[in-house]
Amino acid sequence: MDKQFGFGVVGAGLIAPFHLKAIRDAKGGYAVGIFDIDKAKAQNTAQDFNAKTFETLEQMLEDKNVDVVCVATPNHLHRDTVIKAAQAGKHILTEKPPAMSLGETDEMIEACQKANVKFGCFVQCRVRKAIQAIKNAIESGRFGKLLHADAYMKWYRGQDYYTSSGWRGQQKSGSGVTVAQGFHYIDLLQYLAGPAAKVEAKMTNIGHPGIKLEDDVIAHIEYANSAKGVIQLSTALWPGTDIRIEINGTKGTAIMVGEKVHTWKFQDEKPEDAEIRNIGNASQATGAGGAADFGHVDHTAVVQDMIDSIKNNKEVVIPVKSVRPTLEIVLAMYQSAKYGKAVSSPFNDDNSIWD
Ligand SMILES: NC(=O)c1ccc[n+]([C@@H]2O[C@H](COP(=O)([O-])OP(=O)(O)OC[C@H]3O[C@@H](n4cnc5c(N)ncnc54)[C@H](O)[C@@H]3O)[C@@H](O)[C@H]2O)c1
Repeated sequence: MDKQFGFGVVGAGLIAPFHLKAIRDAKGGYAVGIFDIDKAKAQNTAQDFNAKTFETLEQMLEDKNVDVVCVATPNHLHRDTVIKAAQAGKHILTEKPPAMSLGETDEMIEACQKANVKFGCFVQCRVRKAIQAIKNAIESGRFGKLLHADAYMKWYRGQDYYTSSGWRGQQKSGSGVTVAQGFHYIDLLQYLAGPAAKVEAKMTNIGHPGIKLEDDVIAHIEYANSAKGVIQLSTALWPGTDIRIEINGTKGTAIMVGEKVHTWKFQDEKPEDAEIRNIGNASQATGAGGAADFGHVDHTAVVQDMIDSIKNNKEVVIPVKSVRPTLEIVLAMYQSAKYGKAVSSPFNDDNSIWD
């Protein structure tokens, strides 16, 4: 029988069931166990997925059945778990953002390289068929010269979302809309049109009084290839509408809404375009109105790819090093908003943004 790959999940909060469903559905993977500093949460989640609980992270890392560690803890806590898991020789899939600074991200990448383990990130929207179609069209030159790459995320989260878990109301833990929800769509822009050369952002709180976080951002981005873009991110806009990614060039335009191809027009119409126009499901929720209001199919693709990458000794589909430029943009947006000026590459850490 083919080897089955064992997964350990660290953190049993909102996103953990998505990891566990993905592990359940991926071919060749199974959940060994869960560790959470809150034992009751770990136990409840473990029961739902027929897995065991670990008393400590170390216990999970000593377990020879654990081949891959999924990191599902709050944003500012990923680093320590990732480094310990790498040193224990485990492959790793971390949640987004990989960390709250470029320095910590580099430390983690280095630890994984040194340990020769795979290190992927759940910026799972990249694997959507609509995004892959756009990526292929960009790479084969169908857009002509790229002119615009925009993201519009007009979402809603109630006040209770921000008070439901201690770290969710804290800027330093990465709970503002830019680095939390917006990270996925800034990542798509970076993946499709990046890297960025310059960003300018204005951040405000328009819908969640009493919480010291930005819940609304309007930003302008200039890419190194001279294309431009608008980034609009909000969790204040009830009831929340589907994310839009818009890509325009001299010879074509593509728009994804939610996970669906909404517009697909190119000067060089090709036979496969009719099929591409049918990609996606307009009724599939993609997170617009609620924190857990989306499916686990994209997470499953990332987990499946990890299993296949280990088996075939290849790089994972979303290595963390490919997400670092997204974190650069996000951190530069905070810098820009804090100091009221545009920020140009090379982008560096500036820890004063969290003060
Ligand atoms: N990819 C996505 O679409 C997506 C969606 C939601 C959240 N996330 C990411 O998932 C991560 C977790 O978010 P969440 O919404 O599940 O948070 P959450 O607060 O619901 O859960 C976090 C869990 O981690 C546990 N925890 C805290 N410190 C720990 C430690 N040192 N060791 C073990 N467990 C610890 C907490 O007790 C809690 O149960 C974040 O990085 C977030 O950005 C990703």
